[in-house]
Amino acid sequence: MSTFNIPFNKPCLTGRELLYVAEAILRGHAAGDGSFTRKCQELLERELGVRRALLTTSCTHALEMAALLLRIQPGDEVIVPAFTFVSTVNAFVLRGATPVFSDIRPDTLNLDEKLLPDLITSRTRAIVPVHYAGVACEMDSIAATAGKYAIPVVEDNAHGLFARYKGRLLGTFGCLATQSFHETKNIICGEGGALLINDPELIERAEILREKGTNRSRFFRGQVDKYTWVDVGSSYLPSDLLAAYLFAQLESWQAVQETRKAIWTRYDAELSGWAREHRVCTPCTPPHCEQPYHMYYMLLPSLEARHRLIEHLKSRGMLSVFHYQPLHLSDMGRKFGGVEGQCPVTETVSDRLLRLPFFNDLTETEQGAVIQGVKDFPLSSS
Ligand SMILES: Cc1ncc(COP(=O)(O)O)c(C=O)c1O
Repeated sequence: MSTFNIPFNKPCLTGRELLYVAEAILRGHAAGDGSFTRKCQELLERELGVRRALLTTSCTHALEMAALLLRIQPGDEVIVPAFTFVSTVNAFVLRGATPVFSDIRPDTLNLDEKLLPDLITSRTRAIVPVHYAGVACEMDSIAATAGKYAIPVVEDNAHGLFARYKGRLLGTFGCLATQSFHETKNIICGEGGALLINDPELIERAEILREKGTNRSRFFRGQVDKYTWVDVGSSYLPSDLLAAYLFAQLESWQAVQETRKAIWTRYDAELSGWAREHRVCTPCTPPHCEQPYHMYYMLLPSLEARHRLIEHLKSRGMLSVFHYQPLHLSDMGRKFGGVEGQCPVTETVSDRLLRLPFFNDLTETEQGAVIQGVKDFPLSSS
């Protein structure tokens, strides 16, 4: 049997990255907010229909900006799913907030909107739904609950660029939303992110926070004759070299999505029969959600079965990975009162979820080998 060397992820180029990075260097503007940053932001604003898009150094930093913009303070509570990346929560904890962990839905693995009303208190200052794998949370219900108590919604849309809920693009529902361009995402620049701003009242302060607490953006637009320190802030803007890399990717976003759709669809077509036979769940995309083909995951019957499948694929030279550990059971989560059994769906999903290799340059042969590797796995003996 031939063995492969198939990574889980590979940062893939679309063609013009090196050209644009060279152009950015030769143009002599390597710092942030150069012409490539502007082009990326305009493209995101145009394609997504958001009021303002600001490139950031990561999705983590975009989330930190969201916490600052909402003036989160010690004593405030923020509702987050227990099944997410640490930054969704840490950005708010950094400002002194107490995370209130919500369990997730067993089908889409998104924050369970039915649990929200019971988690809201007089101290709730934000709800942060995460569109897992870019499949939308139930935004109608979340917006209705948040609206009833006038609580801002921040969408963590790290996975879901260009995905839709009932025809509407993700990132347009919250007063704020965040994107990631980390090298594991569909559209990448190594490390990068964006803050999407739908509430126009937050735009000016967002520019200030991102520019070290100064009104430098207004200065560059000729709106003030000198710039100065006006608020708290930090340095959240990426170099224009990274924006150049990102612009090449963003320009080709439809082609990237088509490629990924083909990979995802083949995984699903060839594995769903095997999965049904072996009590393995494959991803659920409700009919009113258009997904971005960010990842292909499976839910194995047990932790032990997942471990054995990872090892089985590894023995054939293929890297599959698990995802998020339950945040309420992490060392930090326990400091906020997290206990076993608090979020039962999160706890079982974390044990059983496995992600298959997924990147734009995955060849048909490689993908075929991964699929065969899964089908050859002796699951029934577990
Ligand atoms: C749901 C979610 N939010 C935020 C992040 C952080 O993204 P970044 O690495 O761009 O900071 C990730 C990272 O994968 C994520 O999965």
